[in-house]
Amino acid sequence: MATVQQENPLTEGLERTPVHPTTLIIFGATGDLAQRKLLPAVYNLAHEGALPERFNMIGIARTEQPDDDYRAFAREAIQKYSRRQPDETVLSSLLERMRYVPGSFDDSAAYEGLESIANELDEEADVAFNRIFYLATAPGFFETIAEALGQRGLDRREGAEVRLVVEKPFGHDLASAQQLNRALLSVFEERQIYRIDHYLGKETVQNMLVLRFGNGIFEPLWNRSYIDNVQITAAEDIGIGTRAEYYDRSGALRDIVQNHLLQLLTILSMEPPVSFSADEVRNEKVKVLHAIKPPTLEEVPERVVRAQYAAGVAEGKDVPGYLEEQGVAPGSSTETYVALRLGIDNWRWAGVPIYMRAGKRLSRRVTEIAVTLKPVPHLAFHESGSLGVQPNQLILNVQPNEGVSLSLVAKIPGARMRVRPVNMEFAYGTSFMSQSPEAYERLILDTMRGDATLFARDDEVEAAWGIVDPILEAWQNADGELPQYAAGSPGPAEADQILLAGAEWRPL
Ligand code: BG6
Repeated sequence: MATVQQENPLTEGLERTPVHPTTLIIFGATGDLAQRKLLPAVYNLAHEGALPERFNMIGIARTEQPDDDYRAFAREAIQKYSRRQPDETVLSSLLERMRYVPGSFDDSAAYEGLESIANELDEEADVAFNRIFYLATAPGFFETIAEALGQRGLDRREGAEVRLVVEKPFGHDLASAQQLNRALLSVFEERQIYRIDHYLGKETVQNMLVLRFGNGIFEPLWNRSYIDNVQITAAEDIGIGTRAEYYDRSGALRDIVQNHLLQLLTILSMEPPVSFSADEVRNEKVKVLHAIKPPTLEEVPERVVRAQYAAGVAEGKDVPGYLEEQGVAPGSSTETYVALRLGIDNWRWAGVPIYMRAGKRLSRRVTEIAVTLKPVPHLAFHESGSLGVQPNQLILNVQPNEGVSLSLVAKIPGARMRVRPVNMEFAYGTSFMSQSPEAYERLILDTMRGDATLFARDDEVEAAWGIVDPILEAWQNADGELPQYAAGSPGPAEADQILLAGAEWRPL
């Protein structure tokens, strides 16, 4: 009798790439990031059968607790934040593979404990596991940890790969980013270092590469002859929550523009890479960043607007202004909104204004890139009642309604030649009928596979800081009140000041 092969429903639709046995070591294992993002991501990889067949995780943090207490903490985090309801069999077998080391990051005993558990796991399985050190701590510990790993010789391993994953923020300005690069590179080689920008792990961001380089229709138009302007928006409706300590020292420019928005811009505007290998892609991205001329100190006021949210209404209730948020320094001039105009000085993009804006407590959450084409050269339609011919716009919607939409002008049915804009839409929800993985799932998997394409290289991070550094400097020396916008509004009216004639912000 023929036996029927039973499909494992948990691994349906999965592409399995064999991954070398790996021990993932998370520094800051009890922190917010581990709880909300990393543990749920590891669980979802396990659920999909995407983790290496032999996998261990070691958490390290200050709290004194036995393995079992950490497992209970991880279970709760996964139950609370996983994008899918955890399956008990998968979850408990994952938790069994978790160990915990208590210790301070500046205490050599912690590294001793870590090494002995990692070696024990290798010996048990009789394999040299790859080791991934994931720095999910406050940034002040990045150098200390890298140095301590180096001192114990944990930065290399015979017969296995050792990698270092570094969370954001990567530096506070250009000088501190350079210093951090020097410190990490004095212990690890660049090929071992994975700098996280979680926007690169978003499906919609990766799809920009496919849209541009997998379709013939866009590339011929993708230049200054056809594109009028580009507008990148990262609007959030949430405030700063409990993150005042971090946010008040950062602000929207450092928090979102220096990393996420410039990454979106490089992917949108880079030249086609000869292959999708990590360095070919990153070489092209770095070239774009080098082609962006940072504003001079004198140009900052006419090209960049910053603002702070005042009290207002958000998520259906009255909310305080930024200065009233708990933990914000009295009279703080940290911006919760920034809008800026940049340009890319190369053959493809010269003269095309690039507008960017990011802010908290805005009227809605949306991250999108709008590419507006030039208007048609001659308008022949003037019927009254017509909504008119608008330049075509390609909207890449990163979130929350993931998809791509192209605006076209169409004739309104009827006896007269009246026209109005209509949209041609591709929505992930309807085309793929599946939930996209979280950015961290893809990125953690890539660190295990050894694929650095979606991570920022040393020169890339520094080039991005080079663009925002003069803005930070100009602000430091500026005086005067910061413009305000009501929480829950579309942002400050002052944002219009940086637009060139004829341009307008897309409504929020
Ligand atoms: C983080 C910022 O990098 O990105 C946060 O520090 C911000 O302030 C977050 O809220 C936005 O990420 P996402 O994935 O929700 O767009």
